[in-house]
Amino acid sequence: MSYDLIVIGTGPGGYVCAIRAAQLGQKVAVVEKRKTKTFGGTCLNIGCIPSKALLYASEKFEEAAHHLAALGVVVDKPTLDLKAMLKHKDDTVAANVNGIAFLFKKHKIESFFGVGAIKSVAEGAIAVEVTAEDGGQQTLTAKNVVIATGSDVAPLPGVEIDEETIVSSTGALSLKQPPKDLLVVGAGVIGLELGSVWGRLGSNVTVVEFLDRILPGIDAEVAKQFQRILQKQGFTFQLGHKVTKVEKGERLKITIEPAAGGDSLTLEADVVLVAIGRRPVTEGLGLDKVGVALERGRIIIDERFATNVPGVYAIGDVVRGPMLAHKAEDEGIAAAEIIAGQHGHVNYEVIPSVVYTSPEIAAVGATEEDLNAKGIAYKVGKFNFTANGRARAMRQTDGFVKFLADATTDRVLGVHIVGAGAGELIAEACVLMEFGGSSEDLARTCHAHPTLSEAVREAALAVEKRQIHS
Ligand code: FAD
Ligand code: NAI
Repeated sequence: MSYDLIVIGTGPGGYVCAIRAAQLGQKVAVVEKRKTKTFGGTCLNIGCIPSKALLYASEKFEEAAHHLAALGVVVDKPTLDLKAMLKHKDDTVAANVNGIAFLFKKHKIESFFGVGAIKSVAEGAIAVEVTAEDGGQQTLTAKNVVIATGSDVAPLPGVEIDEETIVSSTGALSLKQPPKDLLVVGAGVIGLELGSVWGRLGSNVTVVEFLDRILPGIDAEVAKQFQRILQKQGFTFQLGHKVTKVEKGERLKITIEPAAGGDSLTLEADVVLVAIGRRPVTEGLGLDKVGVALERGRIIIDERFATNVPGVYAIGDVVRGPMLAHKAEDEGIAAAEIIAGQHGHVNYEVIPSVVYTSPEIAAVGATEEDLNAKGIAYKVGKFNFTANGRARAMRQTDGFVKFLADATTDRVLGVHIVGAGAGELIAEACVLMEFGGSSEDLARTCHAHPTLSEAVREAALAVEKRQIHS
């Protein structure tokens, strides 16, 4: 069977690439190895979507338990029906993955379930062998191949994940009951999001982090304030420590050591969540055979998403850059357009990142640390949600918006938000930055009252110290 394009992997990178290529008139096939025979990759099956379903539901539980009474809504102490909550998560996943199957049909994209591997590369005919679960094999050929095989959990040496008591994010999405004590290894996005889910449902959450701060990569001021908020919510942090051993018994015994060396400590927990990062998936793809070059485990690509082997492209978590679904999607669109002879492009300066905790964190562009490291002079405009009428009406006044603008040109270089609705609010900062806007541009844009977005405008006004409400 012969195609214009074969996409290996149907996560946000692969499925979006396949759809865009089909829109552009290409004959497209996708290959997916997931045993559930569903599309959508990590994000839809075991990542973004199920975690957000649980974050939303657990936040409602928390609100009913602790926050509604202050609004005059008196309800009995809520009880947890975890089965129903997990069903809500599973239903959400099913609706999303079925949606992709529908879109594939609509765009006449042919799908093959099995492990895809590149067998041979000849000009205009790249052979991809698909090995199904039952061992059956078939060979497809295409003019071009896009590798979108994503990433998988990075293991913690010496700690074996069983997805029952020692879990990765996948097991942490399906625990049968909230553990009394949950120990999270890694204060990154997964640790704090899934730690929040189980913390809201009753677990005591302790986070052990190698570095002396949480959320590396996020603006330090934001991370510091957020750590204080999480501590108020009941999180305990052991920063500057690493886990060296987890022993199984009636409970788990966890040995931790200061990262800089020193005496070890033993902690106990019912469940350990290992969340120390993810690594690209490249094994079994036949890359060494056809000579596709890798660097530190990731496939090397140029600005056109092309590998060193003609006709073979790569996108998403398996290549450089942040491991984010929307980054993978944008690369999928750009790669499909380039393969079809157009001029696809991704602006890596404007890729937002969001942590879906309560409150949320959202960022786009440079942090203060980035700008200081590069010696770029900048102005800061900051506005606290305590002075925002809507945030007060919602009793969600934790956090702030921070604008970083070039000291000479006023061009916005970065926007950082910790606060209610941050994940939605960041979109206007993205549009502003995509158009090369200044803080003045945003400051002069009328924002509806009363909305949380007024805090974004006030932060833009604060760059020139002319905010009205503080
Ligand atoms: P993936 O989604 O990993 O998809 C790759 C696909 O390729 C998989 O389906 C895999 O089965 C398939 N595959 C691999 N090898 C082969 C092969 N040889 N043959 C056939 N198929 C193969 N990102 C966000 O932006 N927002 C979030 O809120 C968010 N939440 C997350 C929560 C969790 C718990 C996790 C784990 C991740 C989260 N992410 C989030 C990250 C996001 O899931 C990834 O960045 C995104 O899925 C990457 O997309 P991708 O297409 O590159 O790869
Ligand atoms: P991460 O890279 O965000 O955080 C891992 C943390 O573990 C880091 O703080 C690191 O210093 C720490 N660490 C590493 N080794 C350690 C050790 N031995 N002991 C203690 N701490 C250690 O990785 P995470 O949270 O696993 O997430 C993986 C990826 O998934 C992220 O890079 C992110 O891009 C993506 N993701 C995105 C989400 C979002 O956009 N909301 C949600 C969840 C995941």
